[in-house]
Parts: sequence; structure tokens; C-alpha cells
Amino acid sequence: MIGKTKALVMVLALVFGFYWAGGVPTVRADQARVNALLKKAKYVGMDVCAQCHDKEYKEYKLSTHYRAFIKDDTIGAEGCETCHGPGSIHVDAGGGVGVGIINPKKDPEICFTCHTDKRMQFRLPYHHPVLEGKMSCSDCHDPHGIDVRPWTATSEQDTNEVCFKCHADKRGPFIWEHDALKDGCTSCHQVHGSVNDKMLIARDANLCLRCHATVPDPTLGNHTGRWAEGTCWSAGCHQAVHGSNFSKHLRY
Ligand code: HEC
Ligand code: HEC
Ligand code: HEC
Ligand code: HEC
Ligand code: HEC
Ligand code: HEC
Ligand code: HEC
Repeated sequence: MIGKTKALVMVLALVFGFYWAGGVPTVRADQARVNALLKKAKYVGMDVCAQCHDKEYKEYKLSTHYRAFIKDDTIGAEGCETCHGPGSIHVDAGGGVGVGIINPKKDPEICFTCHTDKRMQFRLPYHHPVLEGKMSCSDCHDPHGIDVRPWTATSEQDTNEVCFKCHADKRGPFIWEHDALKDGCTSCHQVHGSVNDKMLIARDANLCLRCHATVPDPTLGNHTGRWAEGTCWSAGCHQAVHGSNFSKHLRY
């Protein structure tokens, strides 16, 4: 949990970052128009939003974002408006799609005002194409709170579940599962972005040795000599790292 000062800084960063966000090139065209309009908007408070968006209001009350928020009357932004921007123009117009409100699905800038480190992660050489506008934070995170796992805000049933929406082939079932997947895709992948190809946590045998510290196993022969030939998952070795229907040792 963060301290009061940090939360305050975050909200201040939001308020200023917001004006700044209007001019940066990553902002999608339609959202840029809304952002320009919003310079004149005022904060109305989340109880006003609740009048028309009861579902989001109830869900949000269960979220980390709600719990992390510290109310401060000197700062306008609270609750919904920390992510959606000041709502007065939207509310005066009776609401509507594309009417005076930020939708972070179209533009993640608002998330970066507080999660500053995440922008850098998505700029690493291998990354999910969020800044390119091909997908959004909310493809993996539920921003309003319902059905989420603490600390990740992905799906509650299983962190991997969100990945299968787009990478269905990794779900299996496989005759020979790799138990590493039970710990989550994130035990091998840095899913925001990474310096390694395929968004891997490590580019060599160290990826696997974090769990398989016992290799070389006497019954398996000496593995050490093989590492010079390439990674553990190179051709001829354990290519089926996600599971196999053909090889107990995940060879292919
Ligand atoms: C008078 C009713 C009303 C109020 C008050 C209201 N909204 Fe809306 N809002 C709507 C309607 C209608 C839509 C159109 C989509 C829909 O039907 O859900 C909408 C759409 C949205 C969208 C999607 C916009 C898009 O371009 O995709 C967001 C985000 C949103 N509202 C947030 C808020 C927030 C935050 C507040 C409080 C500051 C708020 N609304 C207050 C009626 C309202
Ligand atoms: C942590 C940031 C965050 C907060 C706080 C937040 N939202 Fe959202 N909201 C989002 C994101 C991200 C989306 C886009 C979700 C999607 O459709 O993928 C969204 C979408 C919406 C939509 C459009 C839903 C649709 O189906 O198109 C409405 C309406 C909305 N939010 C209302 C609210 C209200 C009301 C509150 C406060 C009770 C609130 N939000 C608080 C991030 C947030
Ligand atoms: C491809 C799916 C995916 C996308 C897209 C994504 N995330 Fe994540 N995010 C995850 C997963 C999975 C975790 C949990 C990481 C872990 O457990 O190691 C996570 C963790 C986080 C966390 C909490 C842990 C931390 O590192 O601080 C934050 C905050 C976060 N993401 C913000 C964002 C923001 C902001 C965006 C959009 C700019 C975004 N994420 C887009 C999958 C995603
Ligand atoms: C006003 C500042 C602020 C904004 C804007 C904001 N966040 Fe957060 N977010 C926080 C704080 C504070 C936490 C909790 C402490 C932490 O984990 O860093 C948090 C936590 C998270 C987590 C971890 C969830 C958990 O349960 O711990 C995710 C994922 C996340 N935010 C995603 C987003 C996304 C996506 C957006 C944009 C739609 C967004 N945030 C906008 C402040 C913000
Ligand atoms: C909304 C769809 C979507 C979701 C959800 C999603 N991804 Fe992706 N993933 C993509 C796209 C698009 C790419 C980029 C493919 C490309 O650049 O050719 C990608 C690329 C990848 C890559 C690199 C593939 C390569 O060939 O370089 C990995 C690894 C990956 N995703 C893992 C994950 C994990 C783990 C999760 C769950 C936390 C996840 N993805 C969730 C759409 C998604
Ligand atoms: C034991 C470590 C490990 C785990 C756990 C893991 N991966 Fe991978 N993944 C890898 C390695 C290694 C590669 C690179 C394979 C290659 O280059 O041939 C890879 C490649 C990928 C690719 C790109 C190439 C392809 O095969 O499509 C995607 C997408 C991917 N993983 C998604 C996932 C998803 C989704 C999960 C969780 C269900 C997951 N991974 C869990 C190690 C892992
Ligand atoms: C998060 C921990 C974890 C990581 C990381 C991991 N594994 Fe595993 N792996 C396991 C567990 C648990 C088992 C099942 C128990 C066992 O056989 O040791 C397993 C089993 C295997 C097996 C089957 C064992 C056999 O009988 O042949 C192979 C092959 C394997 N892993 C290869 C890899 C490779 C290659 C990597 C790196 C890309 C990797 N593992 C990374 C946890 C992990």
C-alpha cells in the first residue's frame, strides 16, 4: 500500500499530466479531440457518475484503485475521474460515447500519469503493442475491480486466463503438461515488455534453471556441455516448453 504523500503526488501528476497528454503523438485522434475539449471541464465527483453508471460504480468500490485513493478536497480528481478525466462536459451533455470523457481503452496515457514505469516497459524492444494502439491495458486488466486477483488485476480464476483470449493454443490440454505454466505465464514472460525476444525473462538457460536447479540430473546425463549449443528450448532439445502431446520430456 502506498503512503498518503505518494498518493497525493500521483493525483497531482494526474492533474498536470492530463493537460500535457492532450498534445502527445500517442493519443488516438478521436480521444485527442475529447482531451482538447476537457481543458474546460470541471470535476464533478463520483456520486454524479453513479447516477447513470451504477454497475461501474459498484464494481469500482471493490477495487484496489478505490482502496488506494485518499480523498483530498484541495484536489479535484477523485474516483472515476482519476482515470476518465473531469466529467462536467460529459454530464451536462447527458453522457454518450465520445462525449467529453476519456476512455482509457482508446488511450492509455491517463494510466501512465500514475504508473510512470509502465510506459517504459511498453517501449522495450519486445512488447505487447499497447502504445501502437493495437490493444489496451484493459485487454488484460479489469480496471473497475470485479473478478480480479490482488496485485495483478487480471482475471480472478487464473492469471493465465486473460492470455488464452488471444493465445488459445497455449491452453492445451496437453498429454504432457509443463507444470511451470501452473505458476503462470509470467514465470517465464515479462508481459508488458522485455529486452529479450518473445518477451522472455532471460534469454538463455537461466530461464529454466531458476526452477530446474537440479539439472544435470545423474539419470539424464550431463547437461552442462549442451548449454554451449544453444538454449534449452532450441531445436532438438525441449522445444515444447508450453506442453507436448508427443514427448514426455517436452522435446517437440
Ligand atoms: C446523465 C447520465 C450520465 C452521467 C451523469 C454520466 N454518464 Fe457516462 N455515459 C452516459 C451515457 C448515456 C453513455 C453512453 C454509453 C452508454 O450508454 O453506456 C456514457 C458513456 C460513458 C463512457 C464511455 C465513453 C466512450 O467514449 O467510450 C465513460 C468512460 C463514462 N460514460 C464515464 C462517466 C463518468 C466517469 C461519469 C462521472 C464523471 C459519467 N460517465 C457520468 C451517461 C452518463
Ligand atoms: C483505474 C482507472 C479507472 C477508474 C478509476 C474508473 N474506470 Fe471506468 N474505465 C476504465 C477503463 C480502462 C475502461 C475501458 C474498459 C474497456 O472497455 O476495455 C473504462 C470504461 C468505462 C466505461 C465504458 C464501459 C463500456 O462498456 O464501454 C464506463 C461507463 C466507465 N468506465 C465508468 C466508470 C465509473 C462510473 C467509474 C467510477 C465509479 C470508473 N469508470 C472508474 C478505467 C477506469
Ligand atoms: C498482455 C497483458 C497485459 C497488458 C496489455 C497490460 N498488462 Fe499490466 N500486468 C499483466 C500481468 C499478467 C501482470 C502481473 C505481472 C506479474 O504477476 O508478474 C500485470 C501487472 C501490472 C501491474 C501491477 C504490478 C506492477 O508491475 O506494478 C500494473 C500497475 C499494471 N500491470 C499496469 C498496466 C498498465 C498501465 C497497462 C497498459 C499501459 C498494462 N498493465 C497492460 C498483464 C498485462
Ligand atoms: C490516480 C493514480 C492512478 C491512475 C490514474 C491509475 N492507477 Fe493503477 N494504481 C494506482 C495505485 C495507487 C495502485 C495501488 C498501488 C500499486 O500497486 O502501485 C494501482 C494499482 C494498479 C494495478 C495493480 C492492481 C492491484 O490489484 O494491485 C493495476 C493492474 C493498475 N493499477 C492498472 C491501471 C490501469 C490499466 C490504469 C489506467 C486505466 C490505471 N491503473 C490508472 C494508481 C493509479
Ligand atoms: C488482446 C489480445 C492479447 C492478449 C490478451 C495477450 N496477448 Fe500476447 N500478444 C498479442 C499480440 C497482438 C502480440 C504481438 C504479436 C506480434 O507482434 O506479432 C502478442 C505477443 C505475445 C508474445 C510474443 C510472441 C512473439 O512471437 O514474439 C508473448 C510471449 C505473449 N504475447 C504472451 C502473452 C501472455 C503471457 C499474455 C497474458 C498475460 C498475453 N500474451 C495476452 C495479443 C495478446
Ligand atoms: C517455462 C517457461 C514458459 C512458460 C511458463 C510460458 N512460456 Fe511462452 N515461451 C517460452 C519460451 C522459451 C518461448 C520461446 C520459444 C521459441 O522461441 O521457440 C516462448 C514463446 C511464447 C510465444 C511465442 C511463440 C509461440 O509459440 O507462439 C507465446 C505467444 C507464448 N510463449 C505465450 C505463453 C503463454 C500464453 C503462456 C502461459 C499460458 C506461456 N507462454 C508460458 C517459455 C515459457
Ligand atoms: C516456474 C518453474 C519452472 C520453470 C521456470 C521451468 N520449469 Fe520445467 N518443470 C517445472 C516443474 C514443476 C516440472 C515438473 C516436475 C519435474 O519434472 O521436475 C517441470 C518439468 C519439466 C520437464 C519434464 C521433465 C522430464 O521428465 O523430462 C522438462 C523437459 C522441462 N520442465 C523443461 C523446462 C525448460 C526447457 C524450461 C525453460 C524454458 C523450464 N522447464 C522452466 C517447473 C519449471
